[in-house]
This record gives sequence, C-alpha cells and structure tokens, in this order.
Amino acid sequence: MASKISLTRYLVEEQRVDGSIPAQLRLLLEVVARSCKSISHAVNKGALGGVLGTAESENIQGEVQKKLDIISNEVLIEANEWGGHLAAMASEEMEGIYLVPNRYPQGEYLLLFDPLDGSSNIDVNVSIGTIFSVLKKPEGAGVSEQDFLQAGCKQVAAGYCVYGPQTTLVLTVGSGVAMFTLDREQGSFVLTQEKMRIPEDTKEFAINMSNMRHWDAPVKRYIDECLQGKDGPRGKDFNMRWIASMVTDVHRILTRGGIFMYPWDKREPEKPGKLRLMYEANPMAWLVEQAGGAATNCRERILDIAPGKLHERVSVCLGSKNEVERVTRYHVEG
Ligand code: AHG
Ligand code: MN
Ligand code: MN
Repeated sequence: MASKISLTRYLVEEQRVDGSIPAQLRLLLEVVARSCKSISHAVNKGALGGVLGTAESENIQGEVQKKLDIISNEVLIEANEWGGHLAAMASEEMEGIYLVPNRYPQGEYLLLFDPLDGSSNIDVNVSIGTIFSVLKKPEGAGVSEQDFLQAGCKQVAAGYCVYGPQTTLVLTVGSGVAMFTLDREQGSFVLTQEKMRIPEDTKEFAINMSNMRHWDAPVKRYIDECLQGKDGPRGKDFNMRWIASMVTDVHRILTRGGIFMYPWDKREPEKPGKLRLMYEANPMAWLVEQAGGAATNCRERILDIAPGKLHERVSVCLGSKNEVERVTRYHVEG
C-alpha cells in the first residue's frame, strides 16, 4: 500500500516542485493546521469540556458570541503570534487588527480568519468549521488595517477546516485544491484528495429559503425555475441542501458540486449581504475557482472586489460554474 502523505510532506513536495510555498508560508500553514486540530479537540468535547453555550459578549458585527467563537479565536492568535511568520492578524471576532507583539519577530504575512463558522450549529452538534485567508504584507515599515484591504485575487493561501463526522482541512496555494483528513491516532492531517473538481452542472442548490420574501427579483426567478423541476424551463428536478454553516455547505459543493447563495436581501438593504468579504467570501471564492467553479457577488467576480473595510459584507453566489453564471446573468440582464 502506498504510504500516507501528511500535510507536512505535501507542503514540502509542493515547495520543491514549483517553489509556490516559501518556507515561512509553509510554517504558517502548519501552525494554522495545528490550531485547527486543537479547535477540533475542543469541539469534540462539547458539553464535557464546558465549551457549549453563549458568552456574555457581542462582536463587532453585533452578534452574540458563543464560547467556542472566543476559544477558537484565542487558539488561533496564541498559536500564530510567536512563530515569526506573521506581521498581523484579523478576525471576525476582533474589531481591529491584531499586531504581533514586539517581543516576537515580525514576518511578512497577514492572516485573516473566521475562527468558528456556523456558530448557530455549535450547540446542536452539527458540522462547523474555521475559514482562513493569507495575504502578503505590502512593502514598507509597520503594518496597518489598510495593508489588509487587498482584493481576494491577491491571496497567497486560503482554506478551511470542517469539524464534522471527520475533521477535514481543505487548502489552496494557487495550484489546485487538496483535502486532508485528521488521523486522530497519528495526530496528523493526511492527504485524502488531490485536485478537487466541482462539476460545471448541478441539480442541487443551497439558500436560506426562509428569506424568500426579501429576495431581489433575479434570485426569486432563479430559485423559482429550479423549483418548477422537470416541468419548468430548466427541464430537470433540483434538490435543496442548507446546513447553515457556510463552511460545510461549501465543502459539500467542493465534494460533489452544487450552488451556494447568500444574496443581498431587503431585510437590511443598506448592507451588501450577510457574509463577510475578507475572511468568508474571499477564501471560499478562491478555493471554488481553483476547483473549476465560479464565485460572484451576483454581478461580478468576488476575487476582483477592492475592499473598503475589514469587516465589509458581500453578496455571495458560488459553486458549479454554469449555475453561477446563470444567476449572475439574471442579475446583470435585469
Ligand atoms: P458565523 O457563524 O461565522 O457568524 O457565520 C454564519 C453564517 C454562515 O456560516 C451561514 O451560511 C449563515 O451565517 C447562516 O445564516 P442564517 O441562518 O442567518 O441564514
Ligand atoms: Mn462565518
Ligand atoms: Mn464565525
């Protein structure tokens, strides 16, 4: 039997092949993976570890924080601040950027994360995850929030880890998407799928249908046509899946195709969408594109959006290429 390929070996071999992973970036990715292992252990303990339930605080988004949101954020900060590979970090759970303390060496990368995605699923034992994005710090002394405001196409690495029946880490450094599964006996991530591909067509959509009455006309049109099944204009029956953890919905799409949408809606018309551009939409958009899918804000490519602020929100439509292009066309043509 062929020997198992660990995350470390995969990264070292990728580094040798085309030099796409500088040593500091490899260290960074290994530290993020180690943090995910640690978050996975906390998630697994559940009520036994006292990690369930709500904390007595709100984040900058005005959302009540769960204990695991805070624990996961701390795990990522503590693991990443001392290695010398980072200049600063940004998180869904922190208003401003987190500068690497002066007592540690400063690196050339910026790390952004949603420490725990799918918070509403924590207490009900449904899959959740961590999403991360890595940028290069622009040249020059010091580091500021402005340095983080780079379009998604500038990412140098992106990925997520799902804490579900298995713990799986999915990663891109710009040469395709690879999946690793946590081997709990060995304590290491093992390569379980290389070059993940999203089929161009699908019969599966993911959207929170309870918001239907608030949607824009092109979104209503698209879903309505899907719902008409083989008697409607699409000529085929569609299936619906909605986990309410974006990380897990995207994982399903990377595994077997589908379309995921969290579009702008009329509940809060001044906000461009619910999901956050820098640490939710951008990393997922890059992974999806790297696997042959597409990702737009219903009008334009997510990876081309020039961010105006750290916690900026965005409309999201991603997955199987032909379906994403259809939704985008419905919006652009009006
Ligand atoms: P988070 O838990 O990081 O705040 O993100 C939750 C997001 C996303 O994962 C999911 O797709 C969406 O919120 C679900 O929201 P609703 O249940 O409000 O539609
Ligand atoms: Mn999230
Ligand atoms: Mn979150």
